[in-house]
Amino acid sequence: MTLSIGIQAAFAVFVTLAYYGLHWRQLRRRLPPGPRPFPILGNIPQMTLKFPEKRFAQWRKKYGDIIFLRMFNTPVLVINSAAAARDLLDKRSAIYSDRPYSVMMIDLLGWEHDFVLTPYNEEFRKHRRWMHKPFFSKSCLAAVADMQRREAIALLMGLLNDPEDFGNHIYRYTASSLLQYLYGHTVTSSDDEYLHVIEKVAEATMNFSAPGTVPVDFIPSLRYLPTWFPGAGFKRNAVWIKRAVRDAAQRTYDLAESKLVSYAFTRYHDAASGTDTTHTVLMVFLLAMILYPDVYAKAQEEMVSVIGGARLPTVNDRDALPYLECILKETYRCHRTQAGSTGVPHVLREDDEYSGCWIPKGTVVMPNLWSKFMLHDADAYPNPETFCPDRFNGLYENQEDPRNIVFGFGRRICPGRRFAEIGIWQAMANIVATFDLGKARDAMGNDITPPGTFSSGLVNHPHKFKCTIRPRSKQAVELITNGKSTQT
Ligand code: HEM
Repeated sequence: MTLSIGIQAAFAVFVTLAYYGLHWRQLRRRLPPGPRPFPILGNIPQMTLKFPEKRFAQWRKKYGDIIFLRMFNTPVLVINSAAAARDLLDKRSAIYSDRPYSVMMIDLLGWEHDFVLTPYNEEFRKHRRWMHKPFFSKSCLAAVADMQRREAIALLMGLLNDPEDFGNHIYRYTASSLLQYLYGHTVTSSDDEYLHVIEKVAEATMNFSAPGTVPVDFIPSLRYLPTWFPGAGFKRNAVWIKRAVRDAAQRTYDLAESKLVSYAFTRYHDAASGTDTTHTVLMVFLLAMILYPDVYAKAQEEMVSVIGGARLPTVNDRDALPYLECILKETYRCHRTQAGSTGVPHVLREDDEYSGCWIPKGTVVMPNLWSKFMLHDADAYPNPETFCPDRFNGLYENQEDPRNIVFGFGRRICPGRRFAEIGIWQAMANIVATFDLGKARDAMGNDITPPGTFSSGLVNHPHKFKCTIRPRSKQAVELITNGKSTQT
């Protein structure tokens, strides 16, 4: 008995010394501030699985722009200000451009070919170079605009014939633009099999994989839990999601082969995430236009004064519609949750120092895009909770363009941003030109005000809402049915 106590005591001393021996360098250096971690679990008990961005924003008040956490043994740095994100992710992008290995996404859900998750290596750099021409060259972007103009007319037709299903029409618009561009596949009906394939994998994955909320990413051994084990719901879900992901990969690969299109510059996973983010921005636009009818009326006035009523707008009209441009920026800012409010995490490759603090190699870096200190920063954007396009029209000074934030940072900045923007602008402009929007009414004739709340997850969608969408005039109906958008 005595011996065993002695052995236990010696073992405890050994473990303590070994711990301090291994970590003495770390202990001597000053880590960025953050809530005190619990033994073993780190800061996990202080986290929330839903809307982690809000918890991060609360901590900002106490700890400042950068907050250091431990998720079990994984060091995590949350960035709560655009300035700090730029200092680290942009200016030091050579060492801040890796991605964390996600057991959930890669091993359990089967997204191993997802470009977003590719480590920062030669293969990644080669792939980004390939992407440059189709996503940024003038000629390709002109082709994108033309293709999206045709898709926008299909969107208007959908809204005209079946306005209540507006969410699906917008989804179809964003997904079919990508399917057309990446695979040469034309979507002709809302029953299109590829639309459903992309929707299914995107929805399932986004709901189960928001950064910072997936315990198996911090304790990889949890992946070995049997599916029947209490708390192993993530594994039960992973089984069917992985099957859907594999199925989508095979079907879109076959599609690319059959159309002889280059499968190299992007993969269907990018189509899935690109669809979801773009769709969400457009849903936020509609929501804002219903909640702020004066803004919509002003956009319509501008449209009529510039375009008249005899044709539909095209990208060539963009410079002549400055108020619509302000609405676009405000929609980005207010949509609060781009590619997840916590952005897509980066990983630090080498030890670094910032603001007198040491940031250890391997730290997972999460820019809190939603943060009250980025897109909702009251100093940068006065009255941040109000949808106010005029803030970009001289009402307030020095309003930073939200596009510098919402598409991420540094060498991992979203390569689909131009593609997305052309599509978003065309959808917005065409809706403004042809439809009146308003609140739906209940059985008693009372207005139903959309709640304006959002789901939690990798991409946060507005909760379902109802509205009315009616053509502005007979002429608008004719324009839509004739698909007339040539400039006079
Ligand atoms: C409004 C729509 C969109 C938003 C707000 C958005 C936002 C983002 C963000 C925040 C990131 C992470 C950047 C970072 O790590 O710092 C990202 C990455 C990415 N986006 Fe987008 N995106 C949108 C549309 C698209 C579209 C249409 C595509 C086209 C296929 C696309 C393809 C990608 C890819 C491939 C990456 C990974 C880049 C990398 O890891 O290097 N996105 N996006």
